[in-house]
Amino acid sequence: MAEKKLSVNDIATFCKKKGFIFPSSEIYGGLSGFFDYGPLGVELKNNLKKLWWKAHVHEREDIVGIDGSIIMNPQVWIASGHADHFEDVLVECKKCHQRFRADQLVEEKLGINADGKSPEELHELIVKNKITCPNCGGELSEPKSFNLMFKTYIGPKQTSESVAYLRPETAQVIFTEFKNVMDVSRKKMPFGIAQIGKSFRNEISPRNFLFRCREFEQAEIEYFINEKDLNNCPYFDEFKEYKVLALTKDMQEKNQEEKETTIGKLVERGVIKSKWQGFWIGFEHKFLTRVGIKSNHLRIRQHLDNERAHYSLDTWDIEYKFPFGWKEIEGISNRTTFDMSNHSKHSKKDLRVFDEKYKEKVMPYVVSEPSLGIDRLVLTVLFEAYEFDDKRGNVVLKLKPEIAPIKTAVFPLVSNKEELINKAREVFKVLNSNFNSLFDKSGSIGRRYARQDEIGTPYCITVDFDSLKSDDVTVRFRDSTRQERIKIKELAEKIRQFMSEDNCS
Ligand code: GAP
Repeated sequence: MAEKKLSVNDIATFCKKKGFIFPSSEIYGGLSGFFDYGPLGVELKNNLKKLWWKAHVHEREDIVGIDGSIIMNPQVWIASGHADHFEDVLVECKKCHQRFRADQLVEEKLGINADGKSPEELHELIVKNKITCPNCGGELSEPKSFNLMFKTYIGPKQTSESVAYLRPETAQVIFTEFKNVMDVSRKKMPFGIAQIGKSFRNEISPRNFLFRCREFEQAEIEYFINEKDLNNCPYFDEFKEYKVLALTKDMQEKNQEEKETTIGKLVERGVIKSKWQGFWIGFEHKFLTRVGIKSNHLRIRQHLDNERAHYSLDTWDIEYKFPFGWKEIEGISNRTTFDMSNHSKHSKKDLRVFDEKYKEKVMPYVVSEPSLGIDRLVLTVLFEAYEFDDKRGNVVLKLKPEIAPIKTAVFPLVSNKEELINKAREVFKVLNSNFNSLFDKSGSIGRRYARQDEIGTPYCITVDFDSLKSDDVTVRFRDSTRQERIKIKELAEKIRQFMSEDNCS
């Protein structure tokens, strides 16, 4: 957060040093917009994905999951509108030939939201405000649209017939598999299909570390209802009184700042257009707090008319207060019947379903599409958790125990006593069969604690000479440094209990 004066470069440096995330193919000079997750990063990311799947699939009876292919029949992207509309506006410096996203240049220079402006509007702003190349000061070319899909070829012949695309969103597989999933899962609307997977966008200027990459992961749900049931949401009351910081379209047009309100009030005023959409915005916001993001660091922002994607009737972003400003980490759109109708039309397959409640055949209506970027979530939880502790003289990564890469670290008090090492190894074996754990016998105990604080390990366990007599160990809690003596036979169960209570103090 701003008060921590932590920049995105600080986080990137920290991630590399500690083994969370590395720039991709660095030994060859790297590749802009691509990253590799290291030993700790993959654990953190997997824990987040596991928790997302638990909250959205396993804990709900109205959602099932799939895992679809990355490359799909190219017709999909014609039907979905991505072939024509999935574009950003590009400008090129006439002198140094560097390319930029025109809306970003305008935003940086004028401090306005330029998302969704046309090439003509951006050209006018660039000329009027004498915006030049940020790299060399050169004159900028006329802005033009640039399609963000990565092209590839299927099979050995590289012809126009063999062109295919890496998917720019995971959502389309859900639409094309809708019928199969509905048939086999015996679900009735309202119900949702969830998926976590890679997406690819040939971003003009990837930036801010994991925030804007060219290869990233998305966790998406398409939630299908009969359009007649827009306000017939059995889960809505759970979120009626749920508090959020909100910035509506109207407030943005009046240059106002976000204000605290409830989901119920926004739906009552018709700002959020249905109870289902209200429910999903509340549900997603709550999920983000569940992984450790403070509610006052999040706001929901309604898209302006000119920034909504081509398929959307209404979109709300959940934004996080990054050091580089409030930015989207998740989008929640009402996609209507746009995709299902288009796929029906282009594939010539009837994708309507029979709704027993209304005794009619209807096109499934996507009332909400919660779409979360997993890499942006990783970046966000790292910003939230990172604290430099002046007293300890080291970073303490205050991750929720459930998402911490390593849950327990086991230390023999000294490294030159065989019996202590053997006893500590026994404790480690038991813990490691329960949670991802680590054994460390090198350096002073203080140094070993510091190493674990820095990577967010919530519980450090020291085996000392008393442990040999009384079969107990010292558990040290990451956030408070409090210590508690616990019997070895009770240890795994106690740690499980601390984790379930989110107790690191
Ligand atoms: N299916 C809807 C969709 O893709 P989006 O707003 O374009 O909507 C959804 O993307 C989420 O995917 C974003 O909120 C963000 O978290 C993530 N995302 C999008 N582009 C990204 C990029 N270039 N790098 C990292 N994450 C990205």
